[in-house]
Amino acid sequence: DFRLKDRHFVKLLDFTSEEINSLLTLSRELKAAKKSCEEPRFLQNKNIALIFEKASTRTRCAFEVAAFDQGANVTYISSGSQMGSKESVKDTARVLGRMYDGIEFRGHLQQHVEELAEFSGIPVWNGLTNEWHPTQILADFLTMIEHGNGRPLNELKLCYVGDGRNNVANSLLVGSAKMGVDFRIAAPAGFAPDEALVEQCQNIARDSGARLTITESVEDAVAGCDFIYTDVWVSMGEPMEAWEERVKLMTPYQVNQTMLEQTGNPDVRFLHCLPAFHNDETTIGKEIAEHFFKGEEKMNGLEVTEEVFESEHSIVFDQAENRMHTIKAVMVATLGD
Ligand code: CP
Repeated sequence: DFRLKDRHFVKLLDFTSEEINSLLTLSRELKAAKKSCEEPRFLQNKNIALIFEKASTRTRCAFEVAAFDQGANVTYISSGSQMGSKESVKDTARVLGRMYDGIEFRGHLQQHVEELAEFSGIPVWNGLTNEWHPTQILADFLTMIEHGNGRPLNELKLCYVGDGRNNVANSLLVGSAKMGVDFRIAAPAGFAPDEALVEQCQNIARDSGARLTITESVEDAVAGCDFIYTDVWVSMGEPMEAWEERVKLMTPYQVNQTMLEQTGNPDVRFLHCLPAFHNDETTIGKEIAEHFFKGEEKMNGLEVTEEVFESEHSIVFDQAENRMHTIKAVMVATLGD
């Protein structure tokens, strides 16, 4: 499905439910084709620039593997480029547009990905900004469809718990509104999504049939849901000091066995965009554990417990794999021959 040829993919608000659906269908087709070693190549000889101002494992690898599978070449650009220091985003866009066929951007400002889109003359894809993480939501929805026992998105109930103002929560809210999902956010006071965004999404939901609920009550939000989703309590770019306030505020929103039981659904599935703090086996995890869990034997996770993360409810690695299939679909649909 190439109806999206030459379009940018910088935020889900720019796409209709039919267009999002077509990307999900293409993702499934490309995934099946890869699994059966019959993948057609739609990006042969295309050159793709991958700009990463922030760290990444999944997004970078997904773009690279998807590009290689499809016959394209990539250049990974992190620190060391002139963009933002000696050269404006607008000039960088016009330079890259003369050499490349597509640009992925991960960075702080949504304005920068929008400027690349405006001035490069080639498709631009948002690999995460402070505001949005649209490719993540395609992977999340594909994973929900695969684990939804044959039900479409508009028959599924998704609950996000934790920081309701971050790029993942924002994007899930828009995606759910478009696709008719019964979507709940449980977040502490001060961490609910922006009111204007909620109003905009409620308007979209009137057409799609989506139910959108924003509450402080975990109990109300998780009741009867099919999927529980969380993200780290402090996002990339926020200072380490933010942990001080967040651990106290967010602990009641930790995904643990009790929360799974509160859903009343023995088959509830756990989603996380990753990386996750589910133990203290990382450098930052150790730092947090030493600061907040002094004297305790071991930190048993922050936003999710080790028990839930490693349980049969957890489908986070299916979700991570789907980053690649869905990003491939975005590149093929917007750039493919
Ligand atoms: N979920 C996600 O964006 O992962 P990375 O930060 O590893 O790209």
